[in-house]
Amino acid sequence: MTTYPTTLGVNIDHVATIRQARGTTYPDFKEAIYQAEAGGADGITIHLREDRRHVQDADVYLARECVTTHLNLEMAATEEMVEIALRVKPDFCCLVPEKREELTTEGGLDVVSHQKRIAKVCRALRSAGIAVSLFVEPNPQVLELSAKIGADIVELHTGEYALAAGEAQRATYNSIVQAAQHGEELGLQVNAGHGLHQANVGAIAAIPQIRELNIGHAIVADAIFISLKAAVQAFRLAIREGKMMA
Ligand code: PXP
Repeated sequence: MTTYPTTLGVNIDHVATIRQARGTTYPDFKEAIYQAEAGGADGITIHLREDRRHVQDADVYLARECVTTHLNLEMAATEEMVEIALRVKPDFCCLVPEKREELTTEGGLDVVSHQKRIAKVCRALRSAGIAVSLFVEPNPQVLELSAKIGADIVELHTGEYALAAGEAQRATYNSIVQAAQHGEELGLQVNAGHGLHQANVGAIAAIPQIRELNIGHAIVADAIFISLKAAVQAFRLAIREGKMMA
């Protein structure tokens, strides 16, 4: 079994949420990238939603120019998004399900029902040198199918774990542990994310096969009180402490 140093992808969508709420030019997206990287982000993640509720197309191009770590573009598996990704060439694309009325991504991709379309998008992106990640539930069949259709990475959905308590949380946690093991056996890079904050991130970071955590809402929330750079530093510390407890 290999234990990886768990890296942190900082999702800065909600910096854009604050800007779009008033249609201003602040908070400055470029400064957010700079501060997140100065705080130790190993990558910057942005989600260009079909409804453009937070990140705008111009932010994606700006991010491609300014990010000095790696750029992870989250997107729906649509033709429009594939065209944009092929122009921008992020280092990774994470395919996510999208529903217009949702507050945030509400669960993993339905890889079984949309197998053909997702496989086609994987091929298009990979042939342009973009690694593909699929945001999935910690379910063995879904992981097997993800590997079969050519994904490089799976990002395990931790949202249910983050919301659960007691026995239900233990059960979801165990399913994430097992999925991480299974994903690695299948030759996939295993990442995780959604709903993580400083108090629950340690347990996820302690799972040896998990390589990168993508965290957004809680980092931007903490940044209100202590700066984005300091919030990223605090999350890196929480991840390191979680790994030490493993
Ligand atoms: N991973 C994916 C695929 C997501 O869609 C999101 C939310 O944009 C995150 C991680 C980050 O979730 P949170 O904002 O709850 O940290």
